[in-house]
Amino acid sequence: MHGRAAKAASEIARVNAFFPVMPLLGNRLARSRPFEGLTVGVSAHLTSYIGALLQELALGGGRFVLCAASEATTDPSVVDLLRGAGMEVHAAGARKDHQMLVIDEEPDLIVDAGANLIGTLLHRRPELVARVRGAVELSKSGSERLKQLSVPFPVLDLNEGRLKPAIENRHGVGEGLWQAVQQLTGIHLSGRRVGVLGYGPVGRGLAAYARAGGAAVEVIERDPILQLVAHYDGFPAPTLEEALQRVGLLVTATGGRGVIGPEALRGARDGLVLINAGHGDAEINVAAIRGASRAYDQITERVTAYHLEDGPRVVVLADGHPLNIVMNAGSPEPLLVHFAALGLALERLAVGGLPAGVSVVPAELEAEAARLAIKAHGRAHG
Ligand SMILES: NC(=O)c1ccc[n+]([C@@H]2O[C@H](COP(=O)([O-])OP(=O)(O)OC[C@H]3O[C@@H](n4cnc5c(N)ncnc54)[C@H](O)[C@@H]3O)[C@@H](O)[C@H]2O)c1
Repeated sequence: MHGRAAKAASEIARVNAFFPVMPLLGNRLARSRPFEGLTVGVSAHLTSYIGALLQELALGGGRFVLCAASEATTDPSVVDLLRGAGMEVHAAGARKDHQMLVIDEEPDLIVDAGANLIGTLLHRRPELVARVRGAVELSKSGSERLKQLSVPFPVLDLNEGRLKPAIENRHGVGEGLWQAVQQLTGIHLSGRRVGVLGYGPVGRGLAAYARAGGAAVEVIERDPILQLVAHYDGFPAPTLEEALQRVGLLVTATGGRGVIGPEALRGARDGLVLINAGHGDAEINVAAIRGASRAYDQITERVTAYHLEDGPRVVVLADGHPLNIVMNAGSPEPLLVHFAALGLALERLAVGGLPAGVSVVPAELEAEAARLAIKAHGRAHG
């Protein structure tokens, strides 16, 4: 192997060397060959991690046709590697209708991130629906979109189970977000006062990793039960207004829109750093903050300081986009655990017999993915 593909192959080899959950999945699929004779259509962010998954899925037989979920997240070396392995990959180029190109190949199974392939199939090629054995949805946004669609074949949703919130949301984001903050700003957490807004799985991970990094953490949560949980986890749980007078960094993890804006920030400590770890770019109302500022400085490409009228200076990172994703920060392990569940869900769908419509990934599949991950830890370092 040479050129760009060799770069992707070496990245995948590095990940597999220290946490071989993907090769363990591949060994299983090589024995069961569940995709033999089938076409698998995939829409995903074509990164080296999905490359590690697809290499192993291919050991289960079948033909793979892929499209990039976004050009911005496509790694050309991964595209070369997968094409070299015989997969059809629609990534960059003059023809933009990549999802349709995948659907035109008449997939029996679908891997979707954002319900893009499922939506294209239902709306534009409904005559092909009958041949689809099933689909698996990877992303939270796809999971939300699927709630609006009536899908006549089985879809396994990986977001609503137990595994993803416990591992990817809590540990993946909890660890990766602070790494991203350090990479972007150079801030060391020791001795800093940090506010975590929202105490779901993501917020719990953010609070725990910030404390482990030496910060004094406060949690702002609207649900009184979770406020109490935060208290017994050892975190003060003040109101947002109280916390803003003290904290130097505030991270949002609510899944809501505009949970922090100029009004609340008027009483904030000068120099407050605002970071989003939740979904999309609407948790921090950046447009309103800009509108309420007398001036702003672009400190670096992803660091903007706003001077609020009659208020403090606040610094927004990455324009309020989820920072761990923007910086591609953190260990890949939680994502690979999620991918192990994906591989097992696809194997289950190939067998058939599941009810039509969207269901939560079965608990026994998640348990099996967890067993593979535990085995992978044993194989690596313990
Ligand atoms: N950055 C990433 O890589 C990544 C990964 C996974 C999930 N997410 C996103 O992170 C967000 C949080 O995920 P989760 O699993 O913790 O969700 P969750 O819904 O379990 O938790 C959100 C918490 O925020 C609280 N909340 C909502 N609005 C609030 C407000 N205005 N003030 C105080 N508390 C408020 C809710 O009561 C809830 O407890 C979701 O949007 C999810 O899509 C991001």
